[in-house]
Amino acid sequence: MRTYKIAVIPGDGTGPEVTAEAVKVLKAAAKKFGFKTDLTEFDFGGERYKRTGETLPDSAVAELRKFDAILLGAIGHPDVKPGILEKGILLKLRFDLDQYINLRPVRLYPGVECPLKNKGPKEIDYVVVRENTGDAYTGTGGFTMKGTPNEVAVQAAVYSRFQVDRCLKYAFEYARKYGKKATGRGENNTLALCGKTNVLTYIYDLWERAFHEMGEKEYPDIKREYYHVDATCMWMVKNPEWFDVIVTGNMFGDIITDLGAITQGGMGIAAGGNINPEGVSMFEPIGGSAPKYTGLGVINPLAAICAVQMMLETLGQEQAAKKVEDAVKYVTANKMKSMAAGKMGHSTSQVGDLVATEVAK
Ligand code: IPM
Ligand code: MN
Repeated sequence: MRTYKIAVIPGDGTGPEVTAEAVKVLKAAAKKFGFKTDLTEFDFGGERYKRTGETLPDSAVAELRKFDAILLGAIGHPDVKPGILEKGILLKLRFDLDQYINLRPVRLYPGVECPLKNKGPKEIDYVVVRENTGDAYTGTGGFTMKGTPNEVAVQAAVYSRFQVDRCLKYAFEYARKYGKKATGRGENNTLALCGKTNVLTYIYDLWERAFHEMGEKEYPDIKREYYHVDATCMWMVKNPEWFDVIVTGNMFGDIITDLGAITQGGMGIAAGGNINPEGVSMFEPIGGSAPKYTGLGVINPLAAICAVQMMLETLGQEQAAKKVEDAVKYVTANKMKSMAAGKMGHSTSQVGDLVATEVAK
C-alpha cells in the first residue's frame, strides 16, 4: 500500500479549523482508495512568530523537502504587521521549494451562488496558471532618500526566459491534458496568455515571444490566444465561457484569481496549488486566515477540501481526486445554503462530515 508523507501547516486564524476538515476528507479518500497518509504537523504562523520571533526556522525548508506534499491552512495574524508572515512563510516556501506554478481553477459548482448574471457551472469553468516565482514578487528594488520629500521607491518586475519557458511548458501540457477538448467540454484546447504588451513592453514582449515560439514548435494542437490583463478582467465577468486555460505572470495572476474566485462563489471555495512539478508542492485555500471567525465553527472548509482534491490529483491519485470533487459538488448542490461564513446552514465540521461521508460511499 502506498504511503504519502504529508506536511500539514494549519497556520493562523481559521486555518486550523478548515485544515482539520480537509484532513478528514483526505483520510476518507485514503481509506476508500487504498492508500495511506503519514501526516506531520508544523506550527509555522503568527502565534509561533510572536512567541519566538521566527517566521520559519532555518531547518524548515530542508525538512519540508522530505515530504510528498504540503497542506497549508492560512497565514496572516492581526497582531503582526502585513508582509512579515507572508514574505517569511508563504512566499519563502514558494520560492525556496521552487513551486514555480500556482494553479488556480475557477470552477463554479452546482448550487453555488454566482454574482454574474446568467452564468452557471457551464460558463465558469477554466483554470489560471499563475507563474509563482518571478515578477514584482522577487523583492528586487529599494528606497533612496527614504523619509525625505524626494524619496523614491522602486519595485522591479523581473522575469527570465528560463522562468517564462518552464511556466509556459507546464501551461501548454496542462491545456493538452485538461483543456476543454481533452475533457469533452469544447472544441479546442485553448491556452490564453494574459499580459500587458502595450505597456510592459519588455516583460510581456518576452512572454509573448516565448509563448508563440513554444506553441508553434511544440504545441500546434493547442489554440493560442492573447488578452491584455485589463481586458481579461472584463471578459472574466462578461464572457467567462471564452476561457479554458489562462497563463500569466505572478502579479496579474494574483489579481485575476481573486476576481475569478468571487465568480466561483468566493474565498470559501477557491483553492490553489503551489506546484513544483519536479519537487514538493503545497496546496492551500486561496483566501486568508479570516481572524474574526476564528473558533466559531462557521468558516467554510470547502476551499481547503478542494486543496486536498488538487493535492490528490498532483500525487497521481486521480480517481480519489475525482471522488472528492464529486462529493464537493454533491454537497454544494444538495446540502449547503450558502458558501459564506455563518450562512452555510451547517457548521464547519458538519460540512467536512458531509463531504467525507460522500467520499466514503
Ligand atoms: C495569494 C496571496 C499572496 C500572494 C499574499 C498573501 C502574499 O494573495 O496567495 O494570492 O500575493 O501571492
Ligand atoms: Mn492573492
